[in-house]
Amino acid sequence: MVRIKTSEEIEAMRPACQLAANTLVMIEAYIRPGISTDEINTIVHDYTIKHGATPAPLNYRGFPKSVCTSVNHVVCHGIPGPKKLNSGDIINVDVTSILNGWHGDTSKTFFVGEPRPRARKVTEVSRKALEIGIAAARPGATLGDIGHAIQSYVEAEKCSVVREYCGHGIGREFHEEPQVLHYGNPGEGMELKAGMVFTIEPMVNIGKAAVKLLGDGWTVVTRDKALSAQFEHTIALHEGGAEILTSATV
Ligand code: MF3
Ligand code: CO
Ligand code: CO
Repeated sequence: MVRIKTSEEIEAMRPACQLAANTLVMIEAYIRPGISTDEINTIVHDYTIKHGATPAPLNYRGFPKSVCTSVNHVVCHGIPGPKKLNSGDIINVDVTSILNGWHGDTSKTFFVGEPRPRARKVTEVSRKALEIGIAAARPGATLGDIGHAIQSYVEAEKCSVVREYCGHGIGREFHEEPQVLHYGNPGEGMELKAGMVFTIEPMVNIGKAAVKLLGDGWTVVTRDKALSAQFEHTIALHEGGAEILTSATV
């Protein structure tokens, strides 16, 4: 069952969403060769607590850290650790904040130093895929319209869309219905309605779409070990169209 939010509830979600977005702005200054993903985790954790919020990933279904850090061929759910970033890496930082009982979820892929052409390409395609997905999200459209818009763009760019992980409804819970697939057919799937709040978060691979889960139970990597990139926003649907809730205010 999709939990439709009132305009008051959407207002109440704004601080959590803005804090998550502000966290990404804050962390960008630290993304450079030599920093470890553990250090990124500590900085995100402390910033979240300082702002009166809780990092949603910490202990979520056993996830051991406060943020997901996914480097190069890691698709999503990378666990922060001692490994240091190198120039030429790409890293997705996925922040989810809980503030006043509401969740805000957003992620961004950053360049570490100067990106090589394929890193730039997959990052740019994933950024634009999210933008195109948001543009397709409005009352009266369907989930399939969003998925189709994303998939057709990404494949026209000779990249691929990960199938196993998707966007999701969000609110008092981290992951609510509906599942928001990043592929699909126009007109198929649930009709979108004002008051729906969900994420769009296409994972785009420069190579093949296939992924595998590592033995730690979390880290998802591309099977062909080629680069993957992702951007995510939490959006709210109004009669007039989609609003990005995870916009920074700093
Ligand atoms: N933030 C991720 C998402 O976009 C979910 C991470 S679950 C975690 O849905 F446990 F790994 F944090
Ligand atoms: Co999400
Ligand atoms: Co996320």
